[in-house]
Amino acid sequence: MNKNTFPENFLWGGATAANQCEGGYLDGNKGLSTVDVIPAGKDRFPVMLGKMKMLKCDDEHFYPSHEAIDFYKNYKEDIALFAEMGFKTFRLSLSWTRIFPNGDDINPNEEGLKFYDDVFDECLKYGIEPLVTIVHFDVPMHLVETIGSWRSRKMIDYYVIYCETIFNRYKNKVKYWLTFNEINMLLHLPFIGAGLVFEEGENEETTKYQAAHNQLIASAKATEIAHKINPEFKIGCMLAAGNTYANTSAPEDVWKAMEKDRENYFFIDVQSRGEYPNYAKKMFERMNFTLEMEDDDEALLRNNTVDFISFSYYASRLTSADPKINAETEGNVFATLKNPYLKASEWGWQIDSLGLRITMNSLYDRYQKPLFIVENGLGAVDMPDENGNIADEYRIEYLREHIKAMKDAVNEDGVDLMGYTPWGCIDLVSASTGEMKKRYGFIYVDKDNEGNGTLKRSKKKSFDWYKKVIESNGEQL
Ligand code: BG6
Repeated sequence: MNKNTFPENFLWGGATAANQCEGGYLDGNKGLSTVDVIPAGKDRFPVMLGKMKMLKCDDEHFYPSHEAIDFYKNYKEDIALFAEMGFKTFRLSLSWTRIFPNGDDINPNEEGLKFYDDVFDECLKYGIEPLVTIVHFDVPMHLVETIGSWRSRKMIDYYVIYCETIFNRYKNKVKYWLTFNEINMLLHLPFIGAGLVFEEGENEETTKYQAAHNQLIASAKATEIAHKINPEFKIGCMLAAGNTYANTSAPEDVWKAMEKDRENYFFIDVQSRGEYPNYAKKMFERMNFTLEMEDDDEALLRNNTVDFISFSYYASRLTSADPKINAETEGNVFATLKNPYLKASEWGWQIDSLGLRITMNSLYDRYQKPLFIVENGLGAVDMPDENGNIADEYRIEYLREHIKAMKDAVNEDGVDLMGYTPWGCIDLVSASTGEMKKRYGFIYVDKDNEGNGTLKRSKKKSFDWYKKVIESNGEQL
């Protein structure tokens, strides 16, 4: 075997999400979704945290999802560019409210279903395998208003109907499915992760864990149905990954780092091993909290574990046992201390390619299932030169180092890796900040933070570079 390449049939591609690229937020009978009411600007974080109630759009705010990069109308051109790079797979998410505008509709919306048929047909025309995220940070607003979103067990039924509908409809077009994007995000940004808006005095921790249980059951039910509808389907979980390092070699710091990692592993432990880990049961005891469960929940989780483990990786994290030291990072999506050994992106995300190899090994040791890196990349400001060209060497450098680390994990450590879909293969709206300026793409989209621009697509330098990477199956970096 050539140690300088990846396994045959390795799935090279790129990743997007509906709310960050489609636009057309009410077109084709689409209903309003949580992501459509999250504004850009200073109110974005309070809304994403579930602390500020914004159940409708108003005229004072700018909502980046409403137009995004208008993939809704431009998908043919965009997929043609992905094909030109040689993509074997394209990760996209379906917008729940394109298919069930209110979430509890009796019948699905044919126009929404047809849109994704067209998108999949366009991919398949070029031999690109769709990799579908069923829920990427969206919940029908109607279900937030009527039942409080994932805090209610009723959500499971609506999610299952949605899954049954799409599994049946696309069973001959899609094989790879992810049940929830970055399922652990629910603990960090509860409105974006689960549509949770907290009431005054509510116990936020227990609400979040109950919502997590409801999503875990929904994910297991979806896995069960998927395998019945098409035994060839491969169902994955999806973790916002990145190992936590200890600030010093003090055992207290090492312990703290382990606890931090468990906060995230918790979800995948259930989805992949099929039961709540003991450390979580003990944590619930200490919280004086009893999960509301039904009789067959445990069997359902046990019998319907995922086929593969997908994850996003942008950075490693660093923590300390000393609350005074950690306090400086509180309030960030993933609190992390500054690691003096690492450089950081313009948004302060620390760049750690070896951290990817470490993360891959940790996940593979823990679960012993194939891994899939479904997000990775560098969010950076791109400045076109006078001819409109973008020489994004910094992005190439970031990706090159991360692909090398992947290679080592696969060829030196024996990790089973199915594929790699860097995030935002075409520039799109940033999930955390709502900006366009934070770009990840191989393809530039002419649009700024305020929503101005022609939406014209152009190739960056990284476009040709990634094309060669794919052509040579990772040999030429
Ligand atoms: C992940 C999400 O958290 O990271 C994506 O799944 C997101 O939706 C990506 O866009 C990058 O984060 P950001 O905040 O730079 O867009």
